[in-house]
Amino acid sequence: MRQQTSTILLLFFFVFLCWAQPSRPDEGRPSCDRCDMHLLCNCSHEGFTVVPTVTERALAFDLSFNNINVVNDDDLTGHTQLKVLSLQGNRLAVIRLSAFDHLFNLEELDLSDNELNVLNHKWFSQLAALQKLNLLANPYSCVGSPPVFQGLVNLRRLAFGGPHLKMLKRGDLSGVTELEELIVHANNLTGYESGALASIWPLGRVSLSLYEPFLTNTTLASAVLADVSYPETPLILEDLRLDGNQSVQPLREAAKRRVRYLTFRNVWISDEAIVDILVVLDGVPVTSISVEGVTLMGRGKWEKASWTDHKGIDEFLVKNIEVLPLFQFVSFLQLSFLLKYPRKVSVINAKVFVMPCATSGLLVNLQYLDLSDNLLTDLTLVETLCDGAGTLEDLRVLNISGNALKSLSTMSRLVKKLYKLTHLDISRTGYSSMPQHCSWPSTLRFLNISGAKLTKITPCLPATLEVLDLSNNNLKDFTLALPSLQELQLSGNKFLRLPSGSLFPNLQTMTIQSNTLGFFGHSDLQEYKRLQNLQAGQNKFVCSCEFVPFLQQTLKGGGDVHLTDREENYVCDSPFDLQGQPVVEVFLSVVVCHQVLFVSVCCVVTLLVGVLVWILLLRLHAFWYLKMTWAWLKAKQSSRRRRQRQQLLAEDNSEGLLSFDAFVSYSDRDATWVENFLVPELEEPGETDGDSRSSRPLNLCLHKRDFLPGHWIVDNIMSAMERSRRTVFILSENFVQSDWCRYELDFSHFWMFDGNVGRDAAILILLEPLSKDDVPKRFCKLRKLMNSTTYLEWPQEEERRGEFWRCLRQALRGEDDD
Ligand SMILES: *[C@@H]1O[C@H](CO)[C@@H](O)[C@H](O)[C@H]1NC(C)=O
Ligand SMILES: *[C@@H]1O[C@H](CO)[C@@H](O)[C@H](O)[C@H]1NC(C)=O
Ligand SMILES: *[C@@H]1O[C@H](CO)[C@@H](O)[C@H](O)[C@H]1NC(C)=O
Ligand SMILES: *[C@@H]1O[C@H](CO)[C@@H](O)[C@H](O)[C@H]1NC(C)=O
Ligand SMILES: *[C@@H]1O[C@H](CO)[C@@H](O)[C@H](O)[C@H]1NC(C)=O
Ligand SMILES: *[C@@H]1O[C@H](CO)[C@@H](O)[C@H](O)[C@H]1NC(C)=O
Repeated sequence: MRQQTSTILLLFFFVFLCWAQPSRPDEGRPSCDRCDMHLLCNCSHEGFTVVPTVTERALAFDLSFNNINVVNDDDLTGHTQLKVLSLQGNRLAVIRLSAFDHLFNLEELDLSDNELNVLNHKWFSQLAALQKLNLLANPYSCVGSPPVFQGLVNLRRLAFGGPHLKMLKRGDLSGVTELEELIVHANNLTGYESGALASIWPLGRVSLSLYEPFLTNTTLASAVLADVSYPETPLILEDLRLDGNQSVQPLREAAKRRVRYLTFRNVWISDEAIVDILVVLDGVPVTSISVEGVTLMGRGKWEKASWTDHKGIDEFLVKNIEVLPLFQFVSFLQLSFLLKYPRKVSVINAKVFVMPCATSGLLVNLQYLDLSDNLLTDLTLVETLCDGAGTLEDLRVLNISGNALKSLSTMSRLVKKLYKLTHLDISRTGYSSMPQHCSWPSTLRFLNISGAKLTKITPCLPATLEVLDLSNNNLKDFTLALPSLQELQLSGNKFLRLPSGSLFPNLQTMTIQSNTLGFFGHSDLQEYKRLQNLQAGQNKFVCSCEFVPFLQQTLKGGGDVHLTDREENYVCDSPFDLQGQPVVEVFLSVVVCHQVLFVSVCCVVTLLVGVLVWILLLRLHAFWYLKMTWAWLKAKQSSRRRRQRQQLLAEDNSEGLLSFDAFVSYSDRDATWVENFLVPELEEPGETDGDSRSSRPLNLCLHKRDFLPGHWIVDNIMSAMERSRRTVFILSENFVQSDWCRYELDFSHFWMFDGNVGRDAAILILLEPLSKDDVPKRFCKLRKLMNSTTYLEWPQEEERRGEFWRCLRQALRGEDDD
C-alpha cells in the first residue's frame, strides 16, 4: 500500500517536471538523414508535416512534396552553409518572419506550389546571396509592399505569380535590377501599372503567361509586353488563346521594340490569328520564331498574308503541333512565301508525312533541316529530298530522327548530292541492315544511327566520319577501320569486348555503357592511341583479380583514359557472391586472386607439417606403440579363443597341449649362437653330463623351424608360447633392435601376467653383458622382466659354460622335476 502511494507520488513528480520544462524547439521534430556525400539532403516525398531536422552542414535541402504548412523561426537556425532550399509542393501557408534569417549563403529558394496568401519582405531581408527565387503557383493576389525583393541584390532568376495574381504595381519589383530570367504567371491579371516591369535591365529571358489579358484586356497585355521587350531578350509567351485580330494586337508592342526571338508555348491559334501575327510582324527583324505546343484551330488558309515581309527570319521551329480539324487542313504550303528566308527550319513532332519536292525547292537558304519525330517513310522521303537531285544544296545538317525509315541505301542515295552535308541524324529509325556499299557526301562528319535495329557494321559507313553514334542497336562487334573518328558511341548494344583500338587511331571519346562487356584491361586501352574519355558502366562485369584492381585504379584517375561516368555504374555481375556490388567497393583476398600460389603454399605447408608430425611421431615411437596395442588386442582375442578350445580338448587329453619344453625367442642375428650352441646342447644332450635325467633331450620351439608357414606371425608366436612350458629370451643388442623379438617379449609378458602360467615361465639369457639401462626406456616390459626375473649370462670363458648349461637345463625343467 505504502509502496503504491510512493509510486504514484513519483509519477506525479515526473509529470510535473515534464510539464515545467519549456518545450525545446527540436523536440518532437522528426529528422531526415537522407544526405549524400555531397551533403545534398533529399527529403522530398517523405510525408513530413513539419520541417525535419537535418545536419547543419547540409548544402542542399530538398523538402519538396511534403505536407509542411508552417516554417517556424527556429526550424532552419544554424544552416548557415545551406545553398539550396526547396519547399515546393507543400501546404505552406505560414512562414515566420525570421524563418530564413540564418541562411546567409542561400543561393536558391523554391517556394512554388504552396498556399502563401501574402508575400512578406521580411522573409528575404537576410538573403543577400540569393540568386534564384521561385514563388510560382501560390494564391497571393499581389506582390505586396513594402517591396518584397528589395534586399535581394544578387537575384538573377525570378519566377512569381499564380492563378490569383490580380495586380502588379509600379515599385513592386524595386530592388530587382538585372535578371537572367524572369517568369511571370499572370493569367488572371486585371490590373497593371505601366512600368512595373520596366526597371529590369539587362534582362536575359522573359517568359509570360497572360491568358486573360490577351483575351479580355489587350491594353493591359500590351503594357506588360511593352515593359519587357528588348531586341536581345528572348520573349516567350505561354498559355495563350489567339483568336482573331484583337487578341494579337499586344504583339505590336513587342514588334515595335524589335523583338528578335519570339516563342509561343502552349497556344491555341486560329487561321486568322496566324495571318494577323504575320501582319503584325511585317517588316520586323524577328530572326527566330518558335512555336512549341500549338493547337491549330483553322484549316490552314494563310495565303492572305503572302505580301508580308519577313526577310529577317533565320530560324523557324514548330514543335508538337496538334491540328484540330485535321482532315480539312490544307497544308503548310501556304507558308511558302516565308520559305526562302530561313536558314534553319525544324518541324518536330508535327505529323508531317511528306514535304513536297516543290516546297524543298523553295527553301533556298536552308542549312539546317530537322524533321524529327514525324511520319516520313522511305517513299515520302524520296519526294521530300527530290529523289536525290541535290535540291537543298546548302544543307549542312539533316535530322530525320524518329521516322519510320527502313532502307539505308535509299537514304545514302538521297543525300549523296548534298555536297555540304556534314551532319546526318537518322537515329530512332527502322534500319535493320546495312548494305555493303553506300555513297555519302565526302563532307559527312557526323552520323547518328542510334536506336535503329542494326545487327552488323559494313563498309557502308564512310571513312570521313568524326562522330558516330551507334547506340541502342543490336551490334556485337565492330571490325571497320575509321581513321578520322574522334567520338564513338556504342552504348546499349551487345558487345562482349571492346572493339580493337587499332581501328580508330584518332578516337578520343567512346561510350560503351549497357552492353555485355565482361571486362577490359590495360592492354585493351593501350591499343587506343588517343582515347581520353571512356564511359563503360552498366556492363556485365566479371570481377576477376585482374579487372578489379585495374578498374579501381582507372576510376581513381590513374592511367591516360578517364572513366567519365559515375563509379556507381561499374557493378559486378559475377561471380555470384559479388553480384550487384560496385566494383570500387570490392575487395578480393589473396585466396581468391592467387589461387595457384595459395594452393601451392598450402600444400607445401601441409607437407611440412605432415613431415614434422611424422618425425615427431617417429621420435615418440607412436607407431610402435600403436602397433603394439593393436597386436596385443588381437592376440588377446585369439588367445582367448585358443584357450577355450584347449579347455574342450583338455577334457579328453589331460596332458594338454604342451608339446615343447621351451619356446626360444631370439633375434635372427643371434641365430648362429642358437643353432651352434643352444640347440645341440639341449636337443642332443652330450655325454659330458653324467646325469641321465638332466641330459634328457629337450624339445625346443624355434620360429625358423617350427612355425607353421602361412600363419600370421603373431598367432604363431602366441601359439608357440602357449604350447611351450617356458619361453627363453635370448637377449643381446640384436634382440633389442629386432622388432619381432619385441613382440615375443610383449606376448610373453602378457602370457605371464595375464595368463595362468607362473612368472618363471620366462627365462632370460644375456648373450653379452647388458645392463637394464642399456635397454631403451620404451621397452618398459623388458625392463620390468629384467628386474623381476633372474637371468643367465652366457660366459665368455669356456670353463664356465658347463655351469651355464646346467643352470639353464634346470631352469627349463623347473617345477615338473621337483
Ligand atoms: C529528390 O528525389 C526525388 C525523387 O524522390 C527527385 O525527383 C528529385 O529530383 C530529388 N532532388 C534532388 C535535388 O536531387
Ligand atoms: C483564374 O482564376 C481562377 C480563380 O480565381 C481560376 O479558377 C482560373 O483557373 C484562373 N485562370 C487561369 C488561366 O489560371
Ligand atoms: C484594362 O487594364 C487597364 C490597366 O490595368 C485598366 O486600366 C483597365 O480598366 C482595364 N480594362 C478593362 C476593361 O478591364
Ligand atoms: C486588326 O486590327 C487593327 C487595329 O486594331 C486594324 O488596324 C487592322 O486593320 C485589323 N486587321 C484585320 C485583318 O482586320
Ligand atoms: C535531331 O533530333 C533529335 C530529336 O529531336 C535530337 O535529339 C537530336 O539531337 C537532333 N540531332 C541533331 C544533329 O541536331
Ligand atoms: C543521336 O540521336 C539520339 C536520339 O535522337 C540522341 O539522344 C543522341 O544524343 C544523338 N547522338 C549525338 C551524338 O548527338
